[in-house]
Amino acid sequence: MSQLLTFDAVSKRFANDVLALDRVSFSVAGGEFVSLVGPSGCGKSTILRLAAGLTPPTGGNIRWEGVRPRLGFVFQDAALMPWADVEKNVRLPLELLRMPSDVVQRRVKETLELVGLTAFAKAFPRELSGGMRMRVSIARALAVEPSVLLMDEPFAALDEFTRERLNDELRNLWRTRGLTILFVTHSIYESVYLSSRVLVMRPRPGRIVNDLEMSRPVERSAEFRHSGEYAERCRALRDALFEGAQA
Ligand SMILES: Nc1ncnc2c1ncn2[C@@H]1O[C@H](COP(=O)(O)OP(=O)(O)OP(=O)(O)O)[C@@H](O)[C@H]1O
Ligand SMILES: [Mg+2]
Repeated sequence: MSQLLTFDAVSKRFANDVLALDRVSFSVAGGEFVSLVGPSGCGKSTILRLAAGLTPPTGGNIRWEGVRPRLGFVFQDAALMPWADVEKNVRLPLELLRMPSDVVQRRVKETLELVGLTAFAKAFPRELSGGMRMRVSIARALAVEPSVLLMDEPFAALDEFTRERLNDELRNLWRTRGLTILFVTHSIYESVYLSSRVLVMRPRPGRIVNDLEMSRPVERSAEFRHSGEYAERCRALRDALFEGAQA
């Protein structure tokens, strides 16, 4: 299978001498849904930032196959522009890409509908809850119609109901648009529900210690959440994570 993104022995040492990542190697094929799971500080956000080219590695190589695809990035802290209302926050990246105004209008409308924020189009970030701000950030990332989504704990601040709904929406988008997704979460259950593969990380220094394949079934719904297979995978992932914690 051709690999879309490859990390080859990638290290990241910050100026304060923290070795955030130590020779991390993995590849993501086009069309995979890969989750990064591991304790706080193990370098998950750093991997996403490196993949997006927001910071350079201090060792090793990061390669995109061919031309780097259009990326949508959902940051861990939403990172909205405080001076702009919801609609403008979603619209700005599209305008920066010089898209025609009718396309811009349509995409802003569609993505706000998708995240359930149509009624808040004119609200400012300070008027929103944390979960709502995160949903604006998700709409903004999707509006550019990226082929690769980098998502850093996008659903952590949401109530269970909204979270499950957006989990299903994301699986749908992933399948219908043939997206490639690199997804960070603390939730064992969420990663098993969503992913076709889970990379388990360990901290100090950050590294990948396990790579769990779970591409089947393709159809996932409430039924899958209640299946024995789902429970078994959650248990296997929990074991892999806890093994890490004891080392
Ligand atoms: N800009 C920075 N300067 C210095 N150290 C940093 C910087 N960014 C991250 N680190 C350090 O690198 C390590 C990994 O950080 P990172 O944010 O990637 O972890 P994480 O797995 O995303 O954690 P969390 O689950 O809490 O979000 C941590 O020890 C952190 O303190
Ligand atoms: Mg993080």
